[in-house]
Amino acid sequence: MKREVLEGSKKDNCLSGKSIITLFFENSTRTRLSFELASKYLGATAANIAASGSSVAKGETLIDTAKTIDQMAADVIIIRHSSSGAPHLISNYTNASIVNAGDGMNEHPTQALLDFMTMQEKKGGFQGLRVAIVGDVKHSRVARSNVYGLKKLGADVVLGGPATLMPADIEQLGVKAYTDIDRAIEGADVVMGLRIQLERQKKGLFPSVREYHKYFGINEERLKLAAPDAIVMHPGPVNRGVELSAAVIDGDRSVIGEQVTNGVCVRMAVLNLLAGK
Ligand code: CP
Repeated sequence: MKREVLEGSKKDNCLSGKSIITLFFENSTRTRLSFELASKYLGATAANIAASGSSVAKGETLIDTAKTIDQMAADVIIIRHSSSGAPHLISNYTNASIVNAGDGMNEHPTQALLDFMTMQEKKGGFQGLRVAIVGDVKHSRVARSNVYGLKKLGADVVLGGPATLMPADIEQLGVKAYTDIDRAIEGADVVMGLRIQLERQKKGLFPSVREYHKYFGINEERLKLAAPDAIVMHPGPVNRGVELSAAVIDGDRSVIGEQVTNGVCVRMAVLNLLAGK
């Protein structure tokens, strides 16, 4: 899939005759667009429906909306929703395959897959790979999906962030959690920043974004603690100067742009596995 994207052919037919619907109840640039492009590159008919422009705004329930889309012979429905478990819920009422494009604070599986692809390309494998995931772990579906997957793949995962943004029982998942960000980053092969999810958190979990950056932001100085060839990742969108400094985002260790490209390729692969010929 990556070869098809990079070489510019983008004309596979493995999904011709298939209908793929993106149903997004939350904002998105990367995930929504990459799923739409992936569908089109593979020859599917792709359509998007945003909650604000749909009959959900007139009071239709999520289940009825999903059933309506299903009755139009959709083959795959890709859903992003603020409630954890929404994709699982609608899968009980549809014939279409359901893809989770991010549900509340639960999971963002295709983000994790594109992250793994990027790590595999840059680091060659996962055994013994030290991955530091740093920031707002508590509200992060990206962190959860990465932890589940990276543990399965054999990586050594450490988390870092303020105590107020760290779930109390997170070490039960077999990871180490530090409130001292320097200890989390020390010796890491991969440093992944997480977005501060201002829209999800109640006020008062940290005093200010300026203070957050001072104590928990990833800057060039702090990055010296990581392995000399460490890469920097971020799922995006980045709050510039908050979770990562501008110099780190634009620096030569950053693979954020490659994550975006790999997002299209991974989503092409997911759609091909679910609905391909
Ligand atoms: N990483 C991610 O899910 O980005 P979007 O919110 O732009 O889709």
